[in-house]
Amino acid sequence: MDLKEIRFLDAGLLFFATLVFVKVLSVLLTPRSSKRLPPVVKALPLVGGLLRFLRGPIVMIREEYPKLGSVFTLNLANRRITFLIGPEVSAHFFKAPEAEMSQQEVYQFNVPTFGPGVVFDVDYSIRQEQFRFFTEALRVSKLRSYVDQMVFEAEDYFSRWGDTGVVDLKYELEHLIILTASRCLLGREVRDKLFDDVSALFHDLDNGMLPISVIFPYLPIPAHRRRDRARKRIAQIFAKIIDSRKSEGRHEDDMLQCFIDSKYKDGRPTTEGEITGLLIAALFAGQHTSSITSTWTGAYLLRHKEYFSAAVEEQKELMKKHGDKVDQDILSEMDILYRCIKEALRLHPPLIMLLRYSHNDFSVKTREGKEFDIPRGHIVATSPAFANRLPHIYKDPDRYDPDRYAAGREEDKAVGAFSYISFGGGRHGCLGEPFAYLQIKAIWSHLLRNFELELISPFPEIDWNAMVVGVKGKVMVRYNRRKLAIDN
Ligand code: HEM
Repeated sequence: MDLKEIRFLDAGLLFFATLVFVKVLSVLLTPRSSKRLPPVVKALPLVGGLLRFLRGPIVMIREEYPKLGSVFTLNLANRRITFLIGPEVSAHFFKAPEAEMSQQEVYQFNVPTFGPGVVFDVDYSIRQEQFRFFTEALRVSKLRSYVDQMVFEAEDYFSRWGDTGVVDLKYELEHLIILTASRCLLGREVRDKLFDDVSALFHDLDNGMLPISVIFPYLPIPAHRRRDRARKRIAQIFAKIIDSRKSEGRHEDDMLQCFIDSKYKDGRPTTEGEITGLLIAALFAGQHTSSITSTWTGAYLLRHKEYFSAAVEEQKELMKKHGDKVDQDILSEMDILYRCIKEALRLHPPLIMLLRYSHNDFSVKTREGKEFDIPRGHIVATSPAFANRLPHIYKDPDRYDPDRYAAGREEDKAVGAFSYISFGGGRHGCLGEPFAYLQIKAIWSHLLRNFELELISPFPEIDWNAMVVGVKGKVMVRYNRRKLAIDN
């Protein structure tokens, strides 16, 4: 080897050593997040991710979870959505402070519906105070008077059924829940005098929230224009009601009154616009979710006669103890009915995807012990519809089995918090959960006590296309009025 060749070899070795050094250095210095990124869903370039997502997020999760595991990322145009499926990996999603995991960016599409100055249109400090108003409006002492109204509405509604007949249970329960929500939330004025006008306006508001509205909430389409007109008209109606309550010094037992009386920390009272916006938000959070859950509860009870009979027996026992009376305490004693509702809701959570925007890098560890770093800027998603059926949490997960929550089994608690997420959990867990259970129990205890029921259409399918995922088609039920005999 001559000198020229040795120099060439030295230079080559030096170059190679430099490459190795740079590589090692880059591995050491690269932020942790780019080292252990979650696996990515395979899709065609550019629009592939969007197409997979539009075919239905649950279909996509069902296909990818077995291949990629509980943490994976979908590239959706210029966005990254990272899915965290199951309690082992979703604690940060539910518990992180707003500065790290926020809702505002991902739930912006609600702003034209709820209106200006409330919830996702205001910064977190104000939103937190507005959620305090919700908490106060839904506290136990307030629920007591709502329950009387729920029971009254159910009795009144079903008193109009004949002695025997055939009904679409889905339509009936939807209608009853709108009436009850009007009374408890929107107030006596709307329920007694303006019900038809206001429910037509809410219908337009509802129809103005389409899948396309999530991406383009202000797109000038007829549905959005009707939504905006309805929102303005609702604001005028409530401004008048609020004004008349204030000027007459009249107080009522409803959520509207709670919002009128609410005050921010600095002593500022709520404005008419804010009160209207908060009421709309409450109705959107609670109405479809509750009516869908009452319908699924009915469908399962009518299919599984053993649970129907158990729920009827429980009503008999309570009637022996308390007579015909139904109040908040008596509803709270309905354990079997509670478990039947809870199980319908596990199988069919109406909110199938929960979203956040991640402002910080964070890490998760799967139950197999794999660690992943999720970079800031990702949208983070979890899915009650999928996570509620994980077989390592729920035995035979697709089976309707209300006893899985009974003492001794308590499958929803076995793997810790966030195993049952129909109501979300942690920092933004549903504030209306007790209200929803009371309302659904008030309806079903009345039906169980006063009617024999039979499902005469096929067991319903899921309507995956709806924004709040519910029951597809009609749920036809034959009823016969009968008074529950308690002495046999
Ligand atoms: C079966 C009925 C219901 C279901 C399944 C349900 C489900 C949920 C879920 C999953 C969340 C969490 C959303 C997230 O983490 O992004 C939530 C939040 C919320 N729900 Fe419900 N909900 C129901 C009824 C109600 C009712 C009746 C009300 C009020 C009257 C209500 C008021 C709220 C509010 C105010 C929040 C926001 C809490 C926060 O962000 O701090 N919900 N609900």
